[in-house]
Amino acid sequence: MSFKFNFDLEADGDDLETGGVEPSPIVPVEDASSASSRVPAQLHSLDELISKLPPHIAFSSLAIPLTPSKTITIPRRELFDVKMQLMAEDNNPSADGSENFSAAFTDEDIRTNTYEGGLKSWECSSDLVKQLASDSDDWKNSSGRIIELGCGTALPSCYILQMLLSSQTNRSIHLTLTDYNIDVLRLVTLPNLILAYLYATNNLPSLDPSVIDGPEETPEIELTPAVISSFLSTLQGQNITISFLSGSWSPVTISLIHGGLEYPSTADETMYSLLLASETIYSPSSIPAFIDMIEHTLANTGKGYIAAKDVYFGVGGSVKDFVDLIETKSWKWEVVREEKRGVGVGRVVGVVSKS
Ligand SMILES: C[S@@+](CC[C@H](N)C(=O)[O-])C[C@H]1O[C@@H](n2cnc3c(N)ncnc32)[C@H](O)[C@@H]1O
Repeated sequence: MSFKFNFDLEADGDDLETGGVEPSPIVPVEDASSASSRVPAQLHSLDELISKLPPHIAFSSLAIPLTPSKTITIPRRELFDVKMQLMAEDNNPSADGSENFSAAFTDEDIRTNTYEGGLKSWECSSDLVKQLASDSDDWKNSSGRIIELGCGTALPSCYILQMLLSSQTNRSIHLTLTDYNIDVLRLVTLPNLILAYLYATNNLPSLDPSVIDGPEETPEIELTPAVISSFLSTLQGQNITISFLSGSWSPVTISLIHGGLEYPSTADETMYSLLLASETIYSPSSIPAFIDMIEHTLANTGKGYIAAKDVYFGVGGSVKDFVDLIETKSWKWEVVREEKRGVGVGRVVGVVSKS
């Protein structure tokens, strides 16, 4: 089932949707067999995903205004560049099912159980970045294990990586990035993490307008062996490890996160002190599985930042549905940021904690 949210999407490459809501929602109905058609979970190492990178990527910088005088810059891969890579691969689809990625060539926001929207940056991910910037003293001092669920372009994790690399903390950090689609992880998540590293280490000279040839020029970076090896050695030098997980939220996903331990597992050493998720509660049918992920990955002393629209017209998910379910577990929910755009739907960032 394909679905397009009734939000105003800007043109390719500037894809943070703006949140204008139209009436006449279309409600997709999931068929009973849908659970079995979901993509199974798989772990991926950084090396595996590096081996799937293209030789170069085109990017632009996203400016997220924090205060009237302060802006956060996050470079990210251009969507047109992803589409060009997919077109080039079209005659030679990868074994992991790139042919399903025809959704990337349409204006569909999601195609249920096939493509869950990870190629575009969604509006709430920049709200979450802003909140992480406000709370940076808190998470920088407490977080050793960080997970982003449904990361897509992973702006929050990219921001965290930029901050960690710029502040030279020497604590060991493990970052886990999960997305429904392996193709999203290889096409945008990892490229964006590499861009975050290059930006944090002042190796993205073309972000400086004075060295861009003309206003129409889209900067590109070559992913040479030297760039990759300096990315890896910088991570190693700062005790940062990264792993990836694709597939549907499920007991298998949870057991993979815990190193293959029996489900349910809440082994302390594999629980996360910081959990991030933006725009992951739009579908009522997957909210219980999402909450299960929180239950079995967020440490008792950890914080889970959930950024979402108040309500997803047309698909049916809402913050209220999510909060109603977590309250049955006696967890705490605190709204730490509220955003509204004119008559558009409201957005929140909330923190889930178990104690
Ligand atoms: C709308 S996109 C949001 C992407 C990104 N967090 C952002 O805000 O830009 C929803 C994300 O949730 C993830 N997702 C949705 N349903 C899922 C499911 N049942 N299992 C695993 N991941 C799922 C997908 O990976 C997708 O990237």
